[in-house]
Amino acid sequence: MTKYFDNPLERLAPEGVKVPAELRVGAVRITPATVLAPMAGVTDTVFRRFIREMGGCGLLMTEFTSADGVVRWRDATAKRYLHFFEDERPISSQLFGSHAESLAEAARRIEAHGFDMVDLNLGCPAKKVVKCNGGSGLLRDLPAIRQIFEAVRKAVKIPFTVKFRAGWSEDELVFRELARMAEDCGLDAIAMHARTRMQGYSGQAHWPWIAELKTLVKIPVIGNGDIRSPEDARAMVAETGCDAVMIGRAAASNPWIFRQIAEHTATGTYTVASREDRYQMIRRYFSLLVEEGHPGAIGRMKQFASWFTHGVEGGARLRKAIYDSREARQILDEVDRFFLAPKLLEDAAAEGDATRTVEAMSPGCYDSDNCNG
Ligand SMILES: Cc1cc2nc3c(=O)[nH]c(=O)nc-3n(C[C@H](O)[C@H](O)[C@H](O)COP(=O)(O)O)c2cc1C
Repeated sequence: MTKYFDNPLERLAPEGVKVPAELRVGAVRITPATVLAPMAGVTDTVFRRFIREMGGCGLLMTEFTSADGVVRWRDATAKRYLHFFEDERPISSQLFGSHAESLAEAARRIEAHGFDMVDLNLGCPAKKVVKCNGGSGLLRDLPAIRQIFEAVRKAVKIPFTVKFRAGWSEDELVFRELARMAEDCGLDAIAMHARTRMQGYSGQAHWPWIAELKTLVKIPVIGNGDIRSPEDARAMVAETGCDAVMIGRAAASNPWIFRQIAEHTATGTYTVASREDRYQMIRRYFSLLVEEGHPGAIGRMKQFASWFTHGVEGGARLRKAIYDSREARQILDEVDRFFLAPKLLEDAAAEGDATRTVEAMSPGCYDSDNCNG
């Protein structure tokens, strides 16, 4: 994947511009106006609660879920996959699919399950999803999208939103028609990742498209793409006038980002996590995974170790030790040893900081053929 994340644009906003304190989507109050982006393989209940606990995130979103799957599941399976805790509210459940009836039925079940909002995914670039016309595949079939909008709108009372990419390619931009259609069909808000499907994650997100959306519709517009810091969040609001910001990858490597945005909004400055904060955060997240009896706990720990140690001096050494570990306990021991042993720190400093070259976060299954969502 292109490592644009290592080479951000310098984004500046005029004094006084702030990320809004509140967004209303239908009857749901989102305070502040910040949203954790849906991320397959990342935003499960453990990660969502972890972000909520850190503070500053107004709305949590689930990973995308197959509408056909939701419709097929028996009660026990649905309970397992759709489970969330009360402290995750407000929470939106994201669905993908291509059949209006199945999406409408899935949305009904999502509402019955107690979610505050339901969202439709029109952005997933995974070939397996696109092949069945789901995710960004639907971007080439606006009449089908209208049918889905109408069917889901009729099926539920909770706010219904859509998250999309700007179009299939630069030559097939549909965000303008799509936004108007969403408003016509009674959707409560729209969120756009300002890239095309063909772009994948390369290049920069094109924020002027988000600004254009704001001139086209009255329903709230949530801006998404390439926010890496509180300064970026403010700059997106300044450049686009969006009603809320949505953050994905940066939340996985810097789970404090929402809290930092809130602090920045309140005081104009924000606290950068210390090494000790990072240590406590990794321990806390890993213990949540273990307590939860998360079936893939070890895999998740390994995956998150690489994101969480971005910017930590000598982090490459810890990542290697974690990758070589086979048990959760061993991983926790490695984390303790790394953060608590000053000798290792000195060695790492002497070797030079291997983590300065930050690896971009891979969208994993979301961006490949193996998507099983
Ligand atoms: C690992 C990963 C999984 C993702 N899964 C989803 C998903 O399930 N649904 C969705 O709408 N977008 C998904 N996305 C896209 C993000 O929600 C977001 O639109 C994108 O990462 C751009 O935002 P960012 O620059 O803040 O990361 C995923 C992205 C990543 C990196």
